[in-house]
Amino acid sequence: MTERKKIAVLISGRGSNMASLISACMDPAYPAEITLVISNRPGAAGLERAAEFGIETATVDHTEFPRDREAFERVLNEKLKQHGIEFVALAGFMRLLSPWFVTQWRERLINIHPALLPSFKGLHTHERALEEGVKLHGATVHFVSAEMDDGPIIIQGAVPVLDGDTPDTLGARVLAVEHQIYPKALELVASGQAKVKDQRVAIAGEDADLADRALIVP
Ligand code: GRF
Repeated sequence: MTERKKIAVLISGRGSNMASLISACMDPAYPAEITLVISNRPGAAGLERAAEFGIETATVDHTEFPRDREAFERVLNEKLKQHGIEFVALAGFMRLLSPWFVTQWRERLINIHPALLPSFKGLHTHERALEEGVKLHGATVHFVSAEMDDGPIIIQGAVPVLDGDTPDTLGARVLAVEHQIYPKALELVASGQAKVKDQRVAIAGEDADLADRALIVP
């Protein structure tokens, strides 16, 4: 078997997507392993969760770098390099990353966003989806570019918006989809099957079909 790629997951909170990636990595055939979890918030619940799985954790508290985003990112970057990290997965990481950092990790940095991009970039996506009356909502895993919630799309998962949905009920349905698509996306990226070409993601391989890129939950 080829060597598993070393992944760092960056979090700010509870880390349920991080946990879904950790679970996927438990399969020895999975092409990646999570060797580091970093939070920008001390005491983030996800840190404890990662430690329970025996994964090394670190905190780089962004408040220690007021008015200097790049100084924060240089520390982050240093830790990633020290650990020989090959790909970085953002999972509820609530800091915007500068073009400098994004360039360092070009095509090796992925994010999950709780909406069908390019709709509903930013925060409060479920509230806004309900306000707009969309009939389908969902989540997107994408390579990160310097713009917020932007970059070539790897996989999307869609759920119907139901009568009577609240942001919480809709958000729970979307989160369940997130936990399915993020491990699949990381697998495609770590195995080298998903590659950026002309600002779009091309998926190579014999079993590449629509199911690799789109999950529709009835
Ligand atoms: C998820 O909805 C993710 O899409 C968004 O932030 C939330 C993080 O949740 N970026 P968790 O920390 O992974 O549970």
